Amino acid sequence: MNPSIEPILQRYEGKGRAYLLPCLLDVQDVSGWLDEETCLAIGETLGVPLVQIHDVIQFYALLYDKPVGERIIRVCDDVPCYLAGSEAIAEALAQRLGLDPEHGGTTTDGKWTLEIHPCLGRCEQAPFLLIDDEEHGHVRPEQLEAWLEVGA
Ligand code: FES
Repeated sequence: MNPSIEPILQRYEGKGRAYLLPCLLDVQDVSGWLDEETCLAIGETLGVPLVQIHDVIQFYALLYDKPVGERIIRVCDDVPCYLAGSEAIAEALAQRLGLDPEHGGTTTDGKWTLEIHPCLGRCEQAPFLLIDDEEHGHVRPEQLEAWLEVGA
């Protein structure tokens, strides 16, 4: 287990199930993803069964039980974004990163993860994507290279 999550676990000690989601998000911010050992430690900290932790991770799209890239690009492909050109955005990113445009994935160097998402809540900015927590609206394919270079 990543030792840098211990201070986070101490903050949540004994707080119970109501704090499960914020605890998972805080731990993942540090560890990048949630391995089994970390989930067990979170369960012991909060007094929550492991099965409930797995249920939350499966349900919540922004939690990961497998390794992901250092940076995560989430491209919305819901109807307003699709109509505004999200397919070309996803294809350009996938081609540049050597990934599948329909299902995304993680680059072999572990630098980038590409995810195709349903609505990200910024339909008025379609086509819309997130790079980690950075919001990018009205995206055009020619903007992508600069963002990938900054993260390289
Ligand atoms: S449809 Fe893309 S952000 Fe809502």
